[in-house]
Amino acid sequence: MVKQINIADAKNYVDQEVKIGVWLTDKRSSGKIAFLQLRDGTAFFQGVVLKNEVSEETFTTAKGLHQEASFWITGTIHKDDRSHFGYEIQVSDIEVIDDSEGYPIGNKEHGIDFLLDERHLWLRSRRPFAIMHIRNEIIKASYDFFNDNGFIKMDSPIFTGTAPEGTTELFHTEYFDTDAYLSQSGQLYAEAGAMAYGKVFTFGPTFRAEKSKTRRHLTEFWMIEPEMAFMHQEQSLEVQENYVAYLVQRVIDNCAYDLKLIDRDIETLKKYTKTPYPKITYDKAIEMLQGAGMDVKWGDDFGSPEESYLSEQFEQPVFILNYPKEIKSFYMLPDPDDDRLFVCADLLAPEGYGEIIGGSERETDYDKLEEVVKAKGLNPEDYSWYLDLRKYGSVPHSGFGMGLERAITWICHLDHLREAIPFPRMINRLRP
Ligand code: 4AD
Ligand code: MG
Repeated sequence: MVKQINIADAKNYVDQEVKIGVWLTDKRSSGKIAFLQLRDGTAFFQGVVLKNEVSEETFTTAKGLHQEASFWITGTIHKDDRSHFGYEIQVSDIEVIDDSEGYPIGNKEHGIDFLLDERHLWLRSRRPFAIMHIRNEIIKASYDFFNDNGFIKMDSPIFTGTAPEGTTELFHTEYFDTDAYLSQSGQLYAEAGAMAYGKVFTFGPTFRAEKSKTRRHLTEFWMIEPEMAFMHQEQSLEVQENYVAYLVQRVIDNCAYDLKLIDRDIETLKKYTKTPYPKITYDKAIEMLQGAGMDVKWGDDFGSPEESYLSEQFEQPVFILNYPKEIKSFYMLPDPDDDRLFVCADLLAPEGYGEIIGGSERETDYDKLEEVVKAKGLNPEDYSWYLDLRKYGSVPHSGFGMGLERAITWICHLDHLREAIPFPRMINRLRP
């Protein structure tokens, strides 16, 4: 019996005969030779079919295959220094599983709307392949980083009755005979977790009814939210920079093939593995923006142009510290040195990518928090469980949330978040 392997394992089988289940991505043939571009989900490589080395029937089959035909291939692995992948297979036999004409995605340029309509098929192409592998590495690295640093993963619910990040972007749904909202953030539950287990992180889908069409906003995105008891903001910033630097290092270490497929320069990425990251205050950021002639005043939130400008001024990710209270969420700790501000930070990714992390130290005082809940027009009854965390053994604690797709978009140097998630959800897109 010939051994069945994956393409990714080809390097271990040089000069050996193997069998692989594959799909055809492209093909070229002449009278005597056919070059089959093959994929099996683990990598892409070339199959070479020589007319003189195979049966008449196998050669005819090879020449007649259509794009995305599925088949078993048997052959011998050879080194191939001219290709990205480094190996190819010299085919001895082909056993067709399924073959049909008319696969809609050719090897020519397609418009983005067409590709998104065909996302269920587009995922098979090289670029989505590379991005999804990098996404997987970032998820794996996140679990490793937090588990190795004494955190436990704690899941937060998706059906909720509270709105941590403000009520305007909530997705409303019916929950039997009451109202519910899809979670905007797992944070409030992560805080309960931190009071129970010290250091926790959540990782799950979050939902925001973002009506703006930007390259940075999805309506459904995945967020990693660590929360840490007995921890002030400065220590949390250290965790954040170490985490981000670790993610980039893991992608460099384990995704060289994928980075090559999307042409991402590794030397650029290496700059982001050095910590600490630069830190500037919100006040300083306003000064820099005004100095560049941008139309912002103290108290304004930053939009994409402001974040892009700031992030382009630094070679590394940069923290913007302590924003005005009006533009941030109710649960943050007021700055003891300046009551107009919160003890919080956003981390902006370089190369113009903007915010990838938002975080803060949290308010720990029961009365003050209750007052803010009321002042924000929220119903204290809905938040009574959250207020309990301040009633029984309240401690200083801090946390943050990293948008997974924002991080992927930056690390992969993509133009738009929609390529960073398998099936993007945006204001005009619910299918496929
Ligand atoms: O800054 P945000 O709103 O912070 C929170 O949700 C806090 N509860 C986090 C915490 O402290 N536990 O969102 C956090 C991150 C942003 O920095 C961004 O990376 C991402 O979530 N994000 C989005 N990603 C894609 N599409 C959207 N519409 C996003 N909104 C936020
Ligand atoms: Mg934010």
